[in-house]
Amino acid sequence: MKQVFSIVAGACLCWLATPAHAQFPLSTVDQAAADRGAKLYSTNCARCHGDDARGTPNGPDMTRSEAVLHDRRESLHGKELGPLLYTLPGHSYHFSDAQLNDLSNFLDFQIGKVLRSGYNDQPQDLLSGNAKAGEAYFNGAGTCTQCHSPTGNLKGVASKYTVAALQQKWIFPGVGFGVKLRRQASVTTPGGQTYAGDVVRIDDFNVTVRGKDGVSRTFSRTPGTKVAVTDPFAGHNALLRKYTDADIHNVTAYLETLK
Ligand code: HEC
Ligand code: HEC
Repeated sequence: MKQVFSIVAGACLCWLATPAHAQFPLSTVDQAAADRGAKLYSTNCARCHGDDARGTPNGPDMTRSEAVLHDRRESLHGKELGPLLYTLPGHSYHFSDAQLNDLSNFLDFQIGKVLRSGYNDQPQDLLSGNAKAGEAYFNGAGTCTQCHSPTGNLKGVASKYTVAALQQKWIFPGVGFGVKLRRQASVTTPGGQTYAGDVVRIDDFNVTVRGKDGVSRTFSRTPGTKVAVTDPFAGHNALLRKYTDADIHNVTAYLETLK
């Protein structure tokens, strides 16, 4: 039940992962909010981001947007989305907090659909990819070998999960069951004291970290307070926008060979 991380030259990441039972994360979607969000979304966003939020040539796939995923993972209910919607080029939406919460629930619901797609409906579709092409992608364009090796930390990974769970794990390793790694923050107070630990909560005004002693401390983000955050899933999240649907099928087919 222990995770071991060792960063050696070349940034090899090794761990002993806990076998997890295949199951999907419990949905935290508020369905009434998601329904209201769907209306806002279809009027304002769908023409560019697609009816199902999976993107069009005019706008990226929302279900693979780092900002949207982060909003979901930290249960921010639109707090991360809000500022983006008036600062992104071409976006000048000023939604109320309630509307942002609705939009966020709608996007969360859509992500859930993507995670589950093919699971209940057509499980066989998940293995329709080409394992050889997936292997090439893993070793090449996918840059997976920066952090993984099929004989190292991904040895036997296919035996740990069902196909659907395996696919979810490699696309969204930071979401759902069995996730042990947390974002880390190091806070240096104006007095020069440093506190480091798991991020419990962070926004523009405050940051709460839980140290090794298990104690959570909250700091105001005054100008003299330095906060450095590291996200163990940043590498994965950055890849999300690169995958094509074909890459996803191929990589899943390849990983499934790592029994
Ligand atoms: C006219 C087309 C258009 C409309 C309408 C539109 N967007 Fe976008 N959106 C884009 C484009 C293009 C980008 C990529 C912008 C960039 O990367 O600079 C984008 C980026 C985003 C991102 C950041 C994605 C990322 O890379 O993480 C979010 C979030 C987003 N849009 C949400 C929305 C929401 C929510 C709505 C509706 C309220 C909306 N957009 C309406 C075209 C549009
Ligand atoms: C920048 C480093 C990095 C890159 C690049 C990267 N990963 Fe990961 N990957 C991680 C980390 C960190 C985890 C989480 C490990 C944990 O939770 O113990 C992870 C988890 C996984 C898991 C789940 C393993 C398990 O035992 O549960 C799979 C499968 C996976 N990644 C596949 C891939 C694939 C395929 C690619 C390339 C498309 C890739 N990763 C790219 C760092 C990376």
